[in-house]
Amino acid sequence: MSGAKILVVDAGGRGNAIAHAFARSDQVAEVYVAPGNAGSTMMEKCRLAQDGQRALKDIPELLEFAREKEIDLTFVGPEGYLSDGMVNVFQEAGQRIVGPRSEAAILEGSKCRTKDFLKEIGVPVPPHQNFDDPEKARIYVNRFYDENPSQNLVIKADGLAAGKGSVVCSSREEALSTVERIMVSPRIFGSAGDRIDVETRLHGRELMFFAVTDGKTILPLESAMDYKNAFASDEEVAVRLFNRLSGNPNLDNNPNTGGMGGFSPHPWLDQELTDRIMEQIARPTIQGLRERGIEYTGFIYFGLMIVGQEKDPYVLEINVRLGDPEAEVILPRLQTDMYALSQALLDGTLDQVRLSWSNESCLCICAVSGRVVKSLSSSVGDEERPGYPGAHYTNMPIRGLKKVDRDVLVYHNGTAYGTDSAGRKQLFTTGGRVLTLVGRGEDLAIAREKAYDNIKRIRFNGMRYRKDIGQGYI
Ligand code: GLY
Repeated sequence: MSGAKILVVDAGGRGNAIAHAFARSDQVAEVYVAPGNAGSTMMEKCRLAQDGQRALKDIPELLEFAREKEIDLTFVGPEGYLSDGMVNVFQEAGQRIVGPRSEAAILEGSKCRTKDFLKEIGVPVPPHQNFDDPEKARIYVNRFYDENPSQNLVIKADGLAAGKGSVVCSSREEALSTVERIMVSPRIFGSAGDRIDVETRLHGRELMFFAVTDGKTILPLESAMDYKNAFASDEEVAVRLFNRLSGNPNLDNNPNTGGMGGFSPHPWLDQELTDRIMEQIARPTIQGLRERGIEYTGFIYFGLMIVGQEKDPYVLEINVRLGDPEAEVILPRLQTDMYALSQALLDGTLDQVRLSWSNESCLCICAVSGRVVKSLSSSVGDEERPGYPGAHYTNMPIRGLKKVDRDVLVYHNGTAYGTDSAGRKQLFTTGGRVLTLVGRGEDLAIAREKAYDNIKRIRFNGMRYRKDIGQGYI
């Protein structure tokens, strides 16, 4: 088979959406996904990168695979590999690989250093302080609430926490307990919480702004509305139950997830705001890195708060990759050849690229491993678990996928094949997020209806999804 061979490194739905985008290129013959999941084998041209039956995960074995298979281009999805220097290792071995080097991935790897950097180059960020001593953090929290009784704080683990490391606090008590839970006990984000970024909570509209850059030119992507909270705003009972089962004393805190759904195009990101964000935030960030000798290559997205009538953008966080599940609604709309775009990133010729997008709407819903009172399988366990983003059961048989309409995309997040008790091949859950269903249509209403109509055909023990994705935007 002639054509390029691609290796996409990602375990989740985003990886499958990226692989799918490469597979649509006429220039691409094969797409390997590592470690991937069962869904990676269900797309045309795509297969798992394996050593026998074993999924490849470690950077050295992935490099060996890329050499052995004569991979033309590797694309890295998740922040962990980027922070661990996968791009550095591959580049030094002469491989063509898309993604920022570890020096640039620090933008996501350290919330504290990033805020300091942005402040230094004049990119607007909320007032904030960094702490590695919990006692100093407590003193700051108490002083903040004494001096600003009507305001609140957001407390973030400095390191990587699978997109869940940010706690929006609604009181002094919650802020103090969050400092305790992150830094002292039970250290909910592990060593990512050795240091914290404590920022003043801004009020406005949250926006995830996506872009792609070769280190010199930066182009905005189509954007997506995201849904970070585990539960819809009217699911107070579920929120309280979740927290009770998770041992969180802040019973009303609707927990953050990596994302529960989304849709694209974004409903209120217009050209004027796009231009402003490019001017005040995106270009200065890439330029600021460049002036410090760091060339950022790859995708990036800025978590922003848009404040007031003037729509002033502030950076809450930076992510050095595509979002999951945002990629699942943005990439199906990309008409530009993904392989050609990646080549332009590596060749430094992004200034010659014009991105083109379909006019369709895409809306996705994530089916997650929710609360299970008692596992149906006694070998798995029998205590009640709150479900994603907390403790959850896996290894649940998934049924109904064959009933999904052909024009609905199903990107798998956490699935694997196994055998059922009769020895038949069966798809099982392996993670918190399990499947992302993408409905597509000429407008959001059609895309939404398709996604919700089809997700009802799928089932696994504990399956849960938000019912309000896209609600209020039709
Ligand atoms: N959807 C948020 C993330 O990918 O971190």
